[in-house]
Amino acid sequence: MSISQGFRSLPGYFEPAAQIRLVEAIRCVIADAPLYVPAMPKTGKQMSVRMTNCGSLGWVTDKERGYRYQAVHPVTERPWPAIPCALLDLWSGVAGYPAPPEACLINYYSHAARMGSHRDADEQDFAAPVVSVSLGDDAVFHVGGPGRNDPKTRMTLRSGDVVVLGGDARLAYHGIDKMLPGTSSLLGEGGRFNLTLRRVTKPGS
Ligand code: SIN
Ligand code: FE2
Repeated sequence: MSISQGFRSLPGYFEPAAQIRLVEAIRCVIADAPLYVPAMPKTGKQMSVRMTNCGSLGWVTDKERGYRYQAVHPVTERPWPAIPCALLDLWSGVAGYPAPPEACLINYYSHAARMGSHRDADEQDFAAPVVSVSLGDDAVFHVGGPGRNDPKTRMTLRSGDVVVLGGDARLAYHGIDKMLPGTSSLLGEGGRFNLTLRRVTKPGS
């Protein structure tokens, strides 16, 4: 599917057995770096997803200090766990970028969660793509262009799917309109994990 050249959808990239292994790895990350409730800058309004990270840097947001990357979990104040090997392999396979990802944001969507339209723009190097993995229940995803009001394309993201926002789509608006509960049995509790891999700093900087 091509919306803009830099947008790539790789449906079913992870087969069911690989999805199970990936969920186990994510649960190990969460055991060390618990999901927490992120809050919007300034208003402090709570987001509907639960969040954590792995990697040398993690993306966090709170009322006082807003969107940023930092090396430690905001609640435990411990360094984030390492990015699981299967995700580093994914990056090597699809990112087309000469350095590894530094951040893997983990978002957990319960049935009522959503993600408003936004751009991933807190990184220093937009030459690196954003690589995203879906695990669990289906979700309706939209992707548009660099302008908030650019036309949007909607698609259902299913467990095991990978999408890549790179090139001219790197700064495209995107978000999750709604969850489709009961569409996957991967996570016993239902809901969905979305993992987004990102390079934050310019290599060598
Ligand atoms: C995000 O853009 O942070 C999440 C996208 C998704 O859940 O698929
Ligand atoms: Fe995003």
